[in-house]
Amino acid sequence: MKIATILGTRPEIIKMAPIIDEISKRGINQVVLHTGQHYDEEMSDAFFKDLEIPTPDYNIHVGSGTHGKQTGLMMKGIEEILLDENPDIVLVQGDTNAVLAGALVASKLHIAVGHVEAGLRSFDMTMPEEINRRAADVCSVMYFIPTEESAINLLAEGFSHKNLFITGNTVVDACFRHLEIAQKRGFEEESLKELDIENMDNILTLTMHRAENVDDKQRVTNIIEALRELDDMNIIFPIHPRTKNTLKIFGLFDELNDLSHVHIIKPLGYLDFLLLTSKSTLILTDSGGLQEEAITLNVPALTLRYNTERPETVTAGGNILVGSDKGAILENARRILDDEDFADKMKNAQNPYGQGDAAKLTVDAIEKYYDDGLLDIKAPENIMDSFTRKMAKINNDISVNEFEIKENALIHMVFDGEKMRFPNDKLNLNGMMISYDKRK
Ligand code: UD1
Ligand code: UDP
Repeated sequence: MKIATILGTRPEIIKMAPIIDEISKRGINQVVLHTGQHYDEEMSDAFFKDLEIPTPDYNIHVGSGTHGKQTGLMMKGIEEILLDENPDIVLVQGDTNAVLAGALVASKLHIAVGHVEAGLRSFDMTMPEEINRRAADVCSVMYFIPTEESAINLLAEGFSHKNLFITGNTVVDACFRHLEIAQKRGFEEESLKELDIENMDNILTLTMHRAENVDDKQRVTNIIEALRELDDMNIIFPIHPRTKNTLKIFGLFDELNDLSHVHIIKPLGYLDFLLLTSKSTLILTDSGGLQEEAITLNVPALTLRYNTERPETVTAGGNILVGSDKGAILENARRILDDEDFADKMKNAQNPYGQGDAAKLTVDAIEKYYDDGLLDIKAPENIMDSFTRKMAKINNDISVNEFEIKENALIHMVFDGEKMRFPNDKLNLNGMMISYDKRK
């Protein structure tokens, strides 16, 4: 078996590293393609070093550009490589342009696509990420899903539960493994040593780069106004290059940089960043990955967005959506700082993203699919005649697996009278309402 992994941005490198590592430990043939979407040393190369994975076999060097140009160049480059390498499965991760390009190209070459971190939905089609993740899901064959909630999003869109694997998120694998390494090593970045972070209190780690925030002058201005008033906190802001550019264009960079309690520094390597966040009182962010890491590291998060595709973090109590609303940012930041019970409740929120074995579960599933011949993409035969769609109320003890075998059926949806449930093979259907396809 040969597995091709496509990545291109900082979070993809971090979240695919545990899978790349697992594939290599098992001695499976693999090839890694970097799209080159992130190209600065501190946005790309630094992560291969910190995460101890080899540099990619290919780099397409697409660089920055409009969505159309960037995605188009990626598609052209990925297609050439896949035609040459002919892998059995292509893995894409998350919701960047690489996911869209990789999934489209591979599926049209009839190569199976595995979407890592599938099923997330913000239901906000103005976000490029929402378009990317939805389109990638349409093209995929295997779905590696962080939580049951995200799996239910895919079920509701009609995907077969047989292809959905609830694995947790590889961000937890990376976090658990590398925090220990970071703690032993200590801070390496000079700016962090100079700030004496080790002995600093009331650290607020800030990151923002989301287009809907940083490309909107009013939103950034509101956020900066809130930061100005949080002068009893030490705000550490490793700035994303996109944000640095737009703050300069808006004429807001110097204003923020002049605040003595705000420390704007360059983007950090993974180990330094993990150590910084683990020592923080609060994380203020619009990052997807950071919402997950905050709850993994037991650090309260305030998310600078009005919606999230990670609602589990909010319902668990570890994350609050504050948008770019100055009042909401200030009120919640103050509470975390001053109200110990409130802060403790946020810190103790249960991590919904698994035990740190997502990479293992992902590669287990791929190996099984390969062995069962399920990675071969074939056209279905006689699809119109092959099944009828049905509903039923189940009044006896029978598991999903037993029902499907007995009825020669595929269950789609399961309702327990209150909410939708994920049809795990062992789920007892007694008392539940189901919809299913019955094969003839
Ligand atoms: C991309 C992803 C976003 C992800 C983020 C992770 C898409 C649509 N967006 O956003 O989902 O959350 O990566 O960080 O795929 N730049 C540099 N150096 C670099 C990379 C970028 O200076 O190494 C600057 C360029 O000015 C570029 C801007 O940042 O125009 C934006 O980069 P781009 O890759 O388009 O999107 P991100 O905002 O990084
Ligand atoms: N990160 C990092 N250094 C930084 C900022 C973030 O290593 O200076 C890591 C962080 O630990 C997380 C990931 O980058 O795992 C998040 O990436 P980003 O916010 O760029 O993208 P998103 O997750 O929003 O797609």
